[in-house]
Amino acid sequence: MKVLVTGGAGFVGSHLVDGLLEQGHEVRILDNLEPQVHGEGGARPDYLTEEAELQVGDIRDREAVARALDGVEVVYHQAALVGVGQSMYDMARYVDINTLGGAIVLEEIVKRRDAIRKVVVASSMSIYGEGAYRNGKGQIVSPSLRSDEELAAKRFDFEGAVDGPLEPIPTPEDKPLQPTSIYAVTKRDHEEMFLAAGSAYRIPVVALRYFNIYGTRQALSNPYTGVVAIFSSRLLNRNRPMIFEDGNQSRDFVHVSDIVRANLLALERSEADGGVFNIGTGQPTSIKQVAEILAERLDYPEDPDIVGRYRAGDIRHCFADISRAREGLGFEPRMSLADGMDELLAWLRNQKADDRVEGAAKELEARGLTR
Ligand SMILES: NC(=O)c1ccc[n+]([C@@H]2O[C@H](COP(=O)([O-])OP(=O)(O)OC[C@H]3O[C@@H](n4cnc5c(N)ncnc54)[C@H](O)[C@@H]3O)[C@@H](O)[C@H]2O)c1
Repeated sequence: MKVLVTGGAGFVGSHLVDGLLEQGHEVRILDNLEPQVHGEGGARPDYLTEEAELQVGDIRDREAVARALDGVEVVYHQAALVGVGQSMYDMARYVDINTLGGAIVLEEIVKRRDAIRKVVVASSMSIYGEGAYRNGKGQIVSPSLRSDEELAAKRFDFEGAVDGPLEPIPTPEDKPLQPTSIYAVTKRDHEEMFLAAGSAYRIPVVALRYFNIYGTRQALSNPYTGVVAIFSSRLLNRNRPMIFEDGNQSRDFVHVSDIVRANLLALERSEADGGVFNIGTGQPTSIKQVAEILAERLDYPEDPDIVGRYRAGDIRHCFADISRAREGLGFEPRMSLADGMDELLAWLRNQKADDRVEGAAKELEARGLTR
């Protein structure tokens, strides 16, 4: 089939492009080579295969989108700005690119709906806010953010009111959504806009809620990207990774190869149409653990810098309940964290990264977003 991947020059998109080509699809990319991700000057990244057609253009440019959609049967919408912290002060740009850009892609898809056989949209675990928990009575609860008072007193875990401490459990798709950043709001927009339009116009749409993705090609010099890339950038420059809170907060780290497989399954499975699926491993890993694994493998002797402060809007724990993806997509994560880290480290050793993390941290601090 003829497939368009928006954002196909990026981390996830480029791996997805490789996966689609391997399956025999014809692939086109629409990507504006955003300088924050690809560096000033916006050169085609070296890792990007010549077998895919790259159209350099912005998803907010209707004509560029129309050109990119010409003859296309399948669309993967991956293009977005991805910085959670940055989105809290660059709000209009995030809404402009992610929400409005997404709406333009969608309008152009709707015009060509007779030709379109599937649309898969990248959503995010960030839309949940806090993950799901069980209280002392065995009930499943969805707490809202911890208060400033608790965080300032370094009471990072949910203590629970009368029912004892809350125990984090895998987060299912039906947990109420509580996005806590502008980025997360725009990702919820992506998901809801694409599913609503898909249902109204009878276009098969699938939304995949990615958890924390790691792997080769993640933009190491982008201080607003994922935590694995940020820590790697610090360590490659022989700086200590900075960790907020006490480092025991956990996330679900999923290798990019598993994300690609979920996307390919979403294309194959018509039962998945109209659905939303968590894509993760189902396993929590603490942020401190990730910093320690990376430091050990990069022969960095010092402990991470646990700053003890916290960021506004940060959550304590969130990891995926993947039962729905198992049933509806036939998805099973294959890459263990140990193997995924080995692969990442083999690549990292030959990479250079500009460590811009302190500058980004100062941006948050200057705005009172770290406390
Ligand atoms: N990486 C993760 O952990 C993660 C987790 C959840 C969801 N996601 C989602 O997955 C998708 C891919 O993320 P990624 O990690 O590969 O990020 P990335 O920054 O590596 O890739 C995004 C790509 O989109 C392009 N882009 C940005 N603005 C554009 C515009 N206006 N027009 C055209 N192209 C534009 C960029 O140049 C880049 O190549 C995003 O939608 C993101 O929200 C990622």
